[in-house]
Amino acid sequence: MSPTQPSDPAALGAVRRLILEAERPVVLTGAGVSAESGVPTFRDAQTGLWERYSPEQLATAEAFAADPSLVWSWYLWRARMVRAVEPNAGHRALAAWQARTPALRIVTQNVDDLHERAGADVLSHLHGSLFAFRCAECDTPADVDPSAVVALAESAAPGSEAGLEALMHLEPPLCAACRRGRVRPDIVWFGELLPERAWGDAQAALEECDLCVVVGTSGVVQPAASLPFLALGAGAPVVEVNPDRTALSDAMTHVLRGPAGTVLPALLG
Ligand code: OAD
Repeated sequence: MSPTQPSDPAALGAVRRLILEAERPVVLTGAGVSAESGVPTFRDAQTGLWERYSPEQLATAEAFAADPSLVWSWYLWRARMVRAVEPNAGHRALAAWQARTPALRIVTQNVDDLHERAGADVLSHLHGSLFAFRCAECDTPADVDPSAVVALAESAAPGSEAGLEALMHLEPPLCAACRRGRVRPDIVWFGELLPERAWGDAQAALEECDLCVVVGTSGVVQPAASLPFLALGAGAPVVEVNPDRTALSDAMTHVLRGPAGTVLPALLG
């Protein structure tokens, strides 16, 4: 179908009606929903400390094995960056929709906690969380406070080149349970399987939904990108909210072009 602008009252009206009628809606979110909070998306160029690296270079088990300190430092830096930003109008509009329609399920590829901090309940974090950690060998969960670790490293040499360098060389602790493995982020890296429960819950929700709204994902990372097709297969309309065309756009029932922070409040307000 042809894309419509969010300012197009007919398109917004049609999707609003779907939203009012939906009894089992599902929202599937990607990095774009957090972009207006200041969290860079994956396919944006990185800036600052990490501009030399692409996420694909850092988000793998091989990268962690080759240079645990570099990968650990990147994740702790991201966790701290997310702690410093706030949910935006898009997160808040989704939380308000869920407050009105508690059957609304949110499935996210994001490893931030901005849906939760906006007051929403997330059914499924498909790719894990920046705030959960486990042993790379025995899988035992580990307690780590990313802000405290980064703040300690910063205080050693505040503002200096050496201080910045130190932030890229934090050491992952040894697992307190097995004393063999390094602690790693509980995040799905490229080439790894999704957590069984998160994936199963997401699949079930999509198969049972009567409306799916896909927000801020490029739709190129599998298997998450297959989820909208489960909804379509179940006969549910699927709506895309994204400022740009994506790999999913052609299959969508409706496309609303624009940033989540503008489109979602207009749709759900
Ligand atoms: P991407 O970075 O691939 O795509 C972000 C999408 O958000 C793009 O389609 C943008 O057009 C869109 N976008 C940008 N600003 C937006 C805004 N203000 N409102 C709405 N949309 C906006 O991110 P994902 O699709 O989430 O996996 O990436 C999927 C997975 O790839 C991530 O979860 C991550 C990455 O590798 C893991 O870490 C395992």
